[in-house]
Amino acid sequence: MSSPEIRPATEADLPFITKIYEHAVLYGTATFELIPPDLDEMTRRFSALMDGGYPYLVAVVDDEVIGYAYAGPYRPRPAYRFTVENSIYLKPAIHRRGIGLQLMQRLLAECTACGHRQMIAVIGDSANAGSIGVHAKCGFEMIGTHPNVGLKFGRWLDTVMMQLSLGEGAATVPPDNA
Ligand SMILES: CC(C)(COP(=O)(O)OP(=O)(O)OC[C@H]1O[C@@H](n2cnc3c(N)ncnc32)[C@H](O)[C@@H]1OP(=O)(O)O)[C@@H](O)C(=O)NCCC(=O)NCCS
Repeated sequence: MSSPEIRPATEADLPFITKIYEHAVLYGTATFELIPPDLDEMTRRFSALMDGGYPYLVAVVDDEVIGYAYAGPYRPRPAYRFTVENSIYLKPAIHRRGIGLQLMQRLLAECTACGHRQMIAVIGDSANAGSIGVHAKCGFEMIGTHPNVGLKFGRWLDTVMMQLSLGEGAATVPPDNA
């Protein structure tokens, strides 16, 4: 497989993205959604992130989107405005070839350039070695585990919280310091 191009997502990529996420919802425990969102819903989510100025990236090989990553608000209350939560999903067939790492590194660079100061990963399932591994490789610190907060496929699931400071992190306060 040739090396992927990492670029900003467009609406034309959303059918691929919807398919990748559908597989993760139906067969995986990284996401706690139980019913795959359809293309209309994925388009609404994409538009909300675009309107908020958040980065949304795809990895593309031979005109096919094989993975995507985005950042969005961590929590809606305004004091959280410099903190983002990330999401990343690849087609299952291409795991462990360095593509997740490339997507994450570009996402981190773009979030830093946007002025965000903290990124939180809320990882579904403490058995998700791939996600924990890629975040650790990017420098995320392990914050802790919320045990047994999800129920999927008849199994109680943990969430694992990891966090990375971006740019100047907490060393300085941005000019917008209300
Ligand atoms: C998590 C995910 C994005 C990782 O992407 P990937 O392309 O498979 O990971 P990479 O090949 O870039 O791995 C980068 C590093 O992460 C770590 N890593 C990746 N997969 C790992 C695994 N299964 N076990 C342990 N470490 C792992 C390793 O340090 C790896 O570096 P190395 O291969 O040089 O040892 C991908 O596996 C995926 O889409 N998983 C399903 C959905 C998901 O869990 N999304 C995250 C939601 S929070």
